[in-house]
Amino acid sequence: MEEAVLENPLRRLIQSPLRVLKEMGVKLGDVLMDVGCGFGYLSIPAAELVAPTGLVYSVDVDEFKLRKLRERARSRNLSNLRTIRSEAWKIEEVDSCTVDVAVMFFSLHHFEKLRESMEEAKTKLRRGGRLFVYDPIRTRFAGHGTSAEEVMKMGIDLGFSLRSLKKRGLTYSIELMKS
Ligand SMILES: C[S@@+](CC[C@H](N)C(=O)[O-])C[C@H]1O[C@@H](n2cnc3c(N)ncnc32)[C@H](O)[C@@H]1O
Repeated sequence: MEEAVLENPLRRLIQSPLRVLKEMGVKLGDVLMDVGCGFGYLSIPAAELVAPTGLVYSVDVDEFKLRKLRERARSRNLSNLRTIRSEAWKIEEVDSCTVDVAVMFFSLHHFEKLRESMEEAKTKLRRGGRLFVYDPIRTRFAGHGTSAEEVMKMGIDLGFSLRSLKKRGLTYSIELMKS
């Protein structure tokens, strides 16, 4: 069921992963960490985009999704994608200060420890590295999501500099930089 929603072809039309990655400025050679990667909606095109010299760390708590992701990566001959089973707030397999771009693509609202997860992403980013959060906007009527303003404030409190905050209908994106 979850796979049918997350991997729906209609989603690719509305929310093209390649367009998102271009918008984020992801390029050949980058090291990208996709936190709450699911079945690899962003991770697979990201690995293709950063190859052959770049690397993608795909982090999720759900081994079922990671196994599917590994199968997909294998079938596309992608050798630059590493799956990591881990909570978002303690990603031991990624060295500190090694990541160019970290992304939480519609996953932050699932994490029990939001602040700690953003702090962990900051630890893994190199100086000048950027964290992108895409999430549904939480409203009084739709509890599913997060508040863009609260996430922005949390990022600033953690010492990130705010690069942008964009709202598009029911979703938002925030770009934060580790200076
Ligand atoms: C809505 S899905 C988004 C998946 C993917 N980013 C996408 O857009 O297709 C949220 C993902 O967060 C993962 N997740 C939930 N809690 C997590 C945690 N504490 N640490 C890491 N991943 C988590 C879930 O297993 C799920 O794959």
